[in-house]
Amino acid sequence: MRFSELGVRLAGETGINALMVDLGEALAVSADPAPLMLGGGNPAHIPAMETVWEERMKEIISDPALLRRTLAIYDPPRGNPGCLEALAGLLQREFGWSVGPENLAVTPGGQTAFFQLFNLFAGRTADGGKGRILFPLMPEYIGYADQSLERDTFTALKPRIEITGAHRFKYGIDFENLNVTPDIRALCVSRPTNPSGNVITDAEMQRLAELAAQHDIPLIIDNAYGWPFPGILFDEVAPLWTEHTIHVMSLSKFGLPGTRTAFVVGPPEVAAAVASMTAVTGLANGNFGQSIAGPLIESGEITRLSREVIRPFYLAKRDKALAAIAEFFPNTAPYSIHESGGAMFLWLWIKDSKRTSKEIYRTLKQRGVLVVPGEYFFFGLEDQDCPHRHECLRLSFAMDDNNVREGIRIISDELFGEWN
Ligand SMILES: Cc1ncc(COP(=O)(O)O)c(C=O)c1O
Repeated sequence: MRFSELGVRLAGETGINALMVDLGEALAVSADPAPLMLGGGNPAHIPAMETVWEERMKEIISDPALLRRTLAIYDPPRGNPGCLEALAGLLQREFGWSVGPENLAVTPGGQTAFFQLFNLFAGRTADGGKGRILFPLMPEYIGYADQSLERDTFTALKPRIEITGAHRFKYGIDFENLNVTPDIRALCVSRPTNPSGNVITDAEMQRLAELAAQHDIPLIIDNAYGWPFPGILFDEVAPLWTEHTIHVMSLSKFGLPGTRTAFVVGPPEVAAAVASMTAVTGLANGNFGQSIAGPLIESGEITRLSREVIRPFYLAKRDKALAAIAEFFPNTAPYSIHESGGAMFLWLWIKDSKRTSKEIYRTLKQRGVLVVPGEYFFFGLEDQDCPHRHECLRLSFAMDDNNVREGIRIISDELFGEWN
């Protein structure tokens, strides 16, 4: 059998596949002893949220009409009309956005939403040209890297690095070198950013929105960790809505990654295009996530739970992980942590590291600690010199606090065991 060029690329060694296999083996397969999982992006299992799922499942099971709608009926490709109405209402109430169901489309998770959006805007154009997606701030989410159906459609910009304190730094967008050439058909950022925990400032977002409007291209904002759900955002920033913004909001980090449910919020023509693409690639979306979360969206409970349960839960875990770094990493060692404004990761920069982060990842795996090497998060920069890409590791703090602490102790020993 011979695979197509695209088949070879998608079936080959991709960062996201390596990460998900590590995650699956660590969490789903019984390894003995289980590795310390500071790798993948699985959300934590929060008892108060598990009670909510249990109650919603009981309600669904005890209502025959709802059970039938959830299990035995294809929704329209755009999603369940009641759920779309509910989300439009929530966005109007919470943010004052002027949106209706025509601005929304459900997708099977954020990952698929990005596959659809990138290929909607990038690739060969009707006039024989080629459209590209520009990521204005690398490092960015590993899962975007292999999503374009055509090669060489992603381009990216290296970050400005600001030292913000002892062992602390923050990335900024290098606007001086940000050129939106005519082939750029969309800008894309995650906010908060996976992997770094960076939160692009309001001023930076405003400048990106102005560029998008000026060039009549969309600014795609990945809201996987933002408001109104799941709210894993520790910095105070304003959500942005303009005629050129497209948000992707997922139920995964709210605690429902197994339901594979996300929402695209954008101009009506984009929402309609996404719905059509869902019909072609999957007929319809799964109904379970919408059935579970629909009433929580309608009542606004989803935002209350995000604010009162999920955000404080991750903030406490973040603080414990930072305390473990301060405890185990030698104070004089050449390391720095990105300012953690949101998401569920610490981004560790090992300055002038002698080993690449992939090499460090492999050694740590042998010692029973899973992390994600930084290289995967610097895509679209292939033609640029960027040693920084080999010097970073992503550490998740979503799992059990004791495991995270022990993982950080072993990482410190591996990196700085001989330090004095
Ligand atoms: C920034 C970001 N975007 C998108 C996704 C995709 O998530 P899902 O497909 O579960 O919605 C993730 C998952 O980790 C993520 O971290």
